[in-house]
Amino acid sequence: MAMFKGGVGKSTSAVNVAAALARRGHRTLLVDCDPQANATEMFISEDEVEFDLRSIIAERVPVEKVIRETRVAGLDVLPASFDLAYLDKELVVSPAGVTRIGRALRDVRDDYSYVVFDTGPNLSHLTLGALAASEHIVIPVSATVWATTGLRKFVRWIDQHRDDEVLAAQLLGLVATMVQPRTRIGQALLDDLASSPFPTFRTWIPRRIAAEDAAMDHAVVGDLGMDRSLGLAYNDLTGELVTRVQELQTAARHAR
Ligand SMILES: Nc1ncnc2c1ncn2[C@@H]1O[C@H](COP(=O)(O)OP(=O)(O)OP(=O)(O)O)[C@@H](O)[C@H]1O
Ligand SMILES: [Mg+2]
Repeated sequence: MAMFKGGVGKSTSAVNVAAALARRGHRTLLVDCDPQANATEMFISEDEVEFDLRSIIAERVPVEKVIRETRVAGLDVLPASFDLAYLDKELVVSPAGVTRIGRALRDVRDDYSYVVFDTGPNLSHLTLGALAASEHIVIPVSATVWATTGLRKFVRWIDQHRDDEVLAAQLLGLVATMVQPRTRIGQALLDDLASSPFPTFRTWIPRRIAAEDAAMDHAVVGDLGMDRSLGLAYNDLTGELVTRVQELQTAARHAR
């Protein structure tokens, strides 16, 4: 989940898609690449995080020691802490810094069907490193004024790095978040995305007052405390995502 704009639902989407994937029987790793550690906190409290990505990359802690099981069967998390802010600076000066996140995960990648990255609201080296480690990119776009401002530039920024062979990831799709369908802004976003040149998920995520409460209670898809509509939407999004990934993989196999 990546978008340089803040508060658009990246972490909520990363956490819930990862949980929904696991609940569908796909072994999933959620990698938190944001020093804010919002995705991590849904599963592990801040004071329980001992190691993070920086421990693997800068301190050579084995990746297996860093990854933690969660209460959701089949879902593991590679937690974040504020130390990632220092890792960001270190990646700038490190040779091939942008490939370090991908390399840190090399030994465990095959243990999972899906690896979901949550990134921060910026174009930092951490974000670029997460994109470079990814095969697909999902961009949440929130139903707010200026939501699509800068979106084309962000996609172009991704394309430039692809041209420079820094990253290979394909844009899997834009997903509308925090949509109130009966408002003008909500409808405008859905119309905007439907007519955009970029792939867009059919599923949109409704704005729900209860989303904040669910986050406070650390509830995700499938949990009792999760808002029902939000859970259903993230389940649908995950189904669509799985289908798209499979279609792209089949197309890539035929192209070879
Ligand atoms: N569908 C929704 N309806 C209402 N509130 C939501 C919804 N999704 C997320 N939120 C709330 O909006 C806030 C921002 O969401 P979230 O943290 O997922 O965004 P983000 O893009 O990861 O933010 P950041 O850029 O800071 O990393 C949170 O308080 C979250 O609980
Ligand atoms: Mg976030």
